[in-house]
Amino acid sequence: MSTTTSTPLLDVRGVTMRFGGLTAVSNVDLTVGQGEIIGLIGPNGAGKTTFFNCLTGLYVPTEGTVTYRGNVLPPKPHLVTQAGIARTFQNIRLFANMTVLENVLVGRHSRTREGLFSALVRGPGYRRAEADSRAKAMELLEFVGLAAKAEHLARNLPYGEQRKLEIARALASEPGLLLLDEPTAGMNPQETRAAEELVFAIRDRGIAILVIEHDMKFIFNLCDRTAVLVQGQKIVEGDRETVQNDERVITAYLGTPLEQPTETTE
Ligand SMILES: Nc1ncnc2c1ncn2[C@@H]1O[C@H](COP(=O)(O)OP(=O)(O)OP(=O)(O)O)[C@@H](O)[C@H]1O
Ligand SMILES: [Mg+2]
Repeated sequence: MSTTTSTPLLDVRGVTMRFGGLTAVSNVDLTVGQGEIIGLIGPNGAGKTTFFNCLTGLYVPTEGTVTYRGNVLPPKPHLVTQAGIARTFQNIRLFANMTVLENVLVGRHSRTREGLFSALVRGPGYRRAEADSRAKAMELLEFVGLAAKAEHLARNLPYGEQRKLEIARALASEPGLLLLDEPTAGMNPQETRAAEELVFAIRDRGIAILVIEHDMKFIFNLCDRTAVLVQGQKIVEGDRETVQNDERVITAYLGTPLEQPTETTE
């Protein structure tokens, strides 16, 4: 019920993404306020990941604007990260042959001020910054529960832990907003529960979250509001009741399992 008059953290207006004749995202508005956990759901191919790509500078939206903390974001991934938005990927993107700790250190890159010269000379400023980065990275590994595996190669982690490492790496850029693209895909029910706790813990650190998931239980346990994308359009947004009782949502979701063979007695 609480409506805030202050500027939202993220303010997306009229974002459209076309690929040739296909409109993957169509005129979508969305806001995320400070401290909110917002869900984004929709059937396969609805445009959810494309929408994330439009927010993070991977795609330049055909139309629309993305404003973060009152500034229109330039569509360049490193500038978006620097501005304070971090993300994880649906298809995990880790440096497989680097250690867990090194992967997190890569994520800190956008927040370290030491330049190339300083790094080459390896002067006291560089060494201090490096020690500081390692300490922060270790703290994040502690936070996601991977500290004991800091020296393991990323590729040797089980799937669920790779997802956690992606989150740690994203957090290393010290974001104000974290975008999670299917963070529990491939996780077992226990890992999924733990991931819920992790998302709440991230929010408690003052980071807002926008999360894509197919797991409805996960979404409705976590989210303050949930938006539904169907064929690129946001058809409804609201709390659990609003979303679950919406006719268009029911139709959209009933449409998906029809591709599987169904047994009917009628
Ligand atoms: N780079 C691209 N070029 C052309 N078409 C694309 C591109 N990226 C996505 N699409 C198309 O845009 C539509 C939306 O895809 P998107 O991956 O955003 O869906 P999604 O909602 O994330 O689905 P899923 O739940 O399966 O991850 C699909 O039809 C997809 O084929
Ligand atoms: Mg996707």
